[in-house]
Amino acid sequence: MSDMIALERQYGATNYDPLPVVLSRGEGVWLWDDQGRRYLDMLSAYSAVSFGYGHPRLLAALNAQAKRLAVTSRAFFSDRLPPFLAKLCEVTGMDRALPMSTGAEGVETAIKCARKWGYVVKKIPANQAKIITCAGNFHGRTSTIVGFSSEAQYRDGFGPYTDGFAHVPFGDAAALEAAITPETAAFLVEPVQGEAGIIVPPKGYLTEALRICRQHNVLLIVDEVQTGLGRTGKVLACHHEGVKPDGIILGKALGGGLLPVSAFCAPEEVMGVFRPGDHGSTFGGNALGAAVGLESLNVLLDEKLAERAATMGAYLLKRLKAISSPMVVDVRGMGLLIGLEIDTRRATARQFVETLLKHGVLSKDTHGTVARFAPPLIIDREQIDWGVARIREALAEYGPVYEKAA
Ligand SMILES: Cc1ncc(COP(=O)(O)O)c(C=O)c1O
Repeated sequence: MSDMIALERQYGATNYDPLPVVLSRGEGVWLWDDQGRRYLDMLSAYSAVSFGYGHPRLLAALNAQAKRLAVTSRAFFSDRLPPFLAKLCEVTGMDRALPMSTGAEGVETAIKCARKWGYVVKKIPANQAKIITCAGNFHGRTSTIVGFSSEAQYRDGFGPYTDGFAHVPFGDAAALEAAITPETAAFLVEPVQGEAGIIVPPKGYLTEALRICRQHNVLLIVDEVQTGLGRTGKVLACHHEGVKPDGIILGKALGGGLLPVSAFCAPEEVMGVFRPGDHGSTFGGNALGAAVGLESLNVLLDEKLAERAATMGAYLLKRLKAISSPMVVDVRGMGLLIGLEIDTRRATARQFVETLLKHGVLSKDTHGTVARFAPPLIIDREQIDWGVARIREALAEYGPVYEKAA
């Protein structure tokens, strides 16, 4: 066992069980371990590294800004935050943006904003506001957020939970409508459920959710922390249906794979409920994060990475769907957010991703049944072909692999 694994196991908290590989370098879509072995990164840190490792423009923005000014707190204005806020609003089509650092903080911000809107604008009686969430959701790990998770392990042992959340089945607009009460302030939803196993809802779901929310004066808040910034083949996943929600949460790729940068973006009527002192964070909106966040958005647009994710995602999906293997139960996804569901009678998803690791592909099991493939959006056809060949080799360890007839 590598010294680093032993050291981490000795001194680290036991809240993770990483795959047995010690990464030491990255470039583009590739990662190298401490023995110099190369891997294709098909996880990209759950979309945080959507632009690949060591993107020259992002590194230049980071280095230049780090030398100039990094953290000053929001007690003062900086010359970096305003252009970042303006770009966030342009990209999301919202009026105002509130920067934070992690995705979970972005979600917490959205929850606080929706509740305050519920009291100030919708006139819900004090402390009665409800937020509807979806079964199978993943919005982060704070004590409030895990309280409305439907995943036993994320919740168990962490109660008591925060009041004021309800669940409906994901993808079921009628269930959403039935769950709405006069106290409902918002519906919080992922456009595609990532952590739940890359679950794509029926076409028209967000459109219908928006219609229902409008009809009942409920905010539609879309968590695009994972699906946003090109991942699903559009700049925002809600653009697939042309839906303009009442709040959008961004994170992960917003930090260019270099820093934690997140944001909650909303229209004036919604964000306007915050008063100075209502909410904040020491690091949210710092000059370094703002410079890197702005450059991330510029790179996304300049390099047309959403379009690229659409083309490369369709190609990867087609190549994976063409594999005939007794291990493959389903292949699904949107853009470069793809899940391969395996037959867990043959192996656990964890065992399968360990086999993939052996063959030079980094992926992560989710929900015990799914290996997720979400490479950096800069991936090209040749790299996808290389990855698919390795995936086939890994599958072949569990049974015969054929190419389906076209
Ligand atoms: C949809 C979604 N929301 C929120 C989060 C939480 O983000 P973070 O881990 O940065 O707190 C995640 C993380 O995986 C996510 O996928």
